[in-house]
Amino acid sequence: MIFPKLQISENLEVLVPIIQGGMAIRVSRAPLAAAVANMGGIGVIAASGLREKELREQIRLARKLQLNKKGAIAVNIMFAASEFNMLVNVSIEEGIDLIITGAGFSRDIFAMGKEGNVPIFPIVSSAKLAKISKKLGASGIIVESGEAGGHLGTDLSINELIPDIKDALNSVPDQKDYEIPLIAAGGITSGMDIINILRKGANGVQMATRFVLSKECDVSDVFKKVYLNIANLDMTLINSPVGMKARSIITPLVERIMNGTQEKPDKCIKCLKNCSQSFCIIKALDLARRGDFENGLFFVGENIAKYKEILSVKEIFEKFQTEAAKYVEECGKFLKV
Ligand SMILES: Cc1cc2nc3c(=O)[nH]c(=O)nc-3n(C[C@H](O)[C@H](O)[C@H](O)COP(=O)(O)O)c2cc1C
Repeated sequence: MIFPKLQISENLEVLVPIIQGGMAIRVSRAPLAAAVANMGGIGVIAASGLREKELREQIRLARKLQLNKKGAIAVNIMFAASEFNMLVNVSIEEGIDLIITGAGFSRDIFAMGKEGNVPIFPIVSSAKLAKISKKLGASGIIVESGEAGGHLGTDLSINELIPDIKDALNSVPDQKDYEIPLIAAGGITSGMDIINILRKGANGVQMATRFVLSKECDVSDVFKKVYLNIANLDMTLINSPVGMKARSIITPLVERIMNGTQEKPDKCIKCLKNCSQSFCIIKALDLARRGDFENGLFFVGENIAKYKEILSVKEIFEKFQTEAAKYVEECGKFLKV
């Protein structure tokens, strides 16, 4: 095994330090998460936008499909979601291995995790929030860069962010008898990228766009075809109703949002704590998943063009291993010259 193991908590370690990033709405579900866990990584069910019953079903299905103990199953919950607390509590009750929080920052989540005995990894984009998270008891930190898909907290690259965040974490005393892991997310696409970011000080990576183009990701074929057709499409940053920037493929909906002609939502289920109501994001993300190019919002990572094919999760993991092993060998040869 070319990659080091990843320690999540005192009692939990996974074989491969790769997290499949959570993708709402219903883009990353149980079959994808379980396939990643079966390869030794951390598979993530996106909980945002799910009702209690559906989240319970998804976690139980992922456990059923989990064939070994090499990896782990996590949930990703957007702090911006109105149902944040319910989704956290249900995940804890269902015995989830790890909770990842994104799109906003919760101070209370660390106490909730401690009480429920579930490790918490917040997604942050600044040294300041990384430090606060460690002080509050985070079990790990995911630092997400401007190259990522979905909501963005920075325009800095992952290579710029990692050294600063590493220094910031080192300045806070460890609460455990090991260093909490630092996970790099955004724009990482190959085994070579993984090795390079580990050498910069990360302990693991989170990747999402790659996993949309997997056989196990159960979005519509149109969604995957849109990704594979990226050479003929453009992407942009939009102002999300959540109050953050978000990277998306330009679809007719995105054009309407940008030129101000998109109609405001007529019905609102109040899925967000604070919503600008510029358009209904939950509906737009759900339509993308169902394959409606006209009205869908297709979140995407900046480096999408590097992926040329749909692979099984097993093939994706094997490809990363092969690429990483080749790269490490080549570096060795280069150093000997
Ligand atoms: C389709 C899509 C949906 C996403 N949804 C979420 C989400 O619900 N919550 C979250 O924290 N991050 C979300 N993200 C961000 C990813 O989890 C991940 O951190 C990021 O995309 C990593 O960069 P990469 O796509 O270049 O690998 C999403 C990304 C994509 C591409």
